[in-house]
Amino acid sequence: KVQTINRLEDLRKAVDALKNGGKTVAFVPTMGALHEGHLTLVRQARQCADHVVASIFVNPRQFGPNEDLDAYPRRLAADAALLEAEGVAILWAPTVDQMYPDGYATNISVSGVSEVACGAARPGHFDGVATVVCKLFNQVRPDFALFGEKDWQQLAIIRRMARDLDLTQPHVSNIIGVETVREPSGLAMSSRNQYLTEAERSNAAGLSAAMRRAIAAIEGGADVAESLATLKADILATGFASVDYADLRDAASLESLDRYSGHPARLLVAARIGAARLIDNMPVGPR
Ligand code: PAJ
Repeated sequence: KVQTINRLEDLRKAVDALKNGGKTVAFVPTMGALHEGHLTLVRQARQCADHVVASIFVNPRQFGPNEDLDAYPRRLAADAALLEAEGVAILWAPTVDQMYPDGYATNISVSGVSEVACGAARPGHFDGVATVVCKLFNQVRPDFALFGEKDWQQLAIIRRMARDLDLTQPHVSNIIGVETVREPSGLAMSSRNQYLTEAERSNAAGLSAAMRRAIAAIEGGADVAESLATLKADILATGFASVDYADLRDAASLESLDRYSGHPARLLVAARIGAARLIDNMPVGPR
């Protein structure tokens, strides 16, 4: 049975018990409203380690003042049942007061890689992510942590933080990226897809198809700026209201590329449809 824990002292004891006898722990942090993407991370986590710890915490520090903190779906009981069915040992579900008690004053900010793409569009967002993930790592002290490539920039930032701060639980080499899980239509699974109507959801599937066309063009030697302009027009034509960005970037540093050199690159897109802001990314060239 999964143990749902919401006090830090209980978590520390429960994790110590799991680690007894040299057993290893893999950690999957989430904000809940779990879908197949999250559950795929949990399944991969089970392959890495003896025990899996998952967390559910809708982190207020990573939401902007006009973002969807209040609307974000919360369904702890159903999520706990899903995690139990996947064999998760501990569900860490702290309260906001536990994470940020009165007087809380510390922020982690990863420069460079946090400042572009979603970082430019959502000021403070990645400070909120880096801060909460650092806290969660210190609370759970896992051997491995798993993150989805769906949030490619987030994964790059967490790896940078782990390297820069010499984290050992987990070590940067044990931060594992898991390939994006998609609907049969190609739409990347996301808790925010629930904000879409049926019609919007079917239009949103056009995003990944347009991205694949752009990647084929870029890998085939087409001009990058022209391919990105075509991509933006294609995204708007499938029914998106606006495109926040559609960029070709170095896969690790996220520096902008205006020419494709054959090194690992990433096409990153954020676009708005209905009440949702959707993000997606795919590899360009070798992974
Ligand atoms: P959340 O959006 O709940 O995602 C939790 C984890 O699931 C992240 O690592 C995310 O990349 C991964 N994920 C989401 N959709 C996925 C998909 N379709 N395929 C593969 N992986 C997917 O990301 C967060 O929460 C938060 O920022 C968090 C890291 C928990 C910090 O608050």
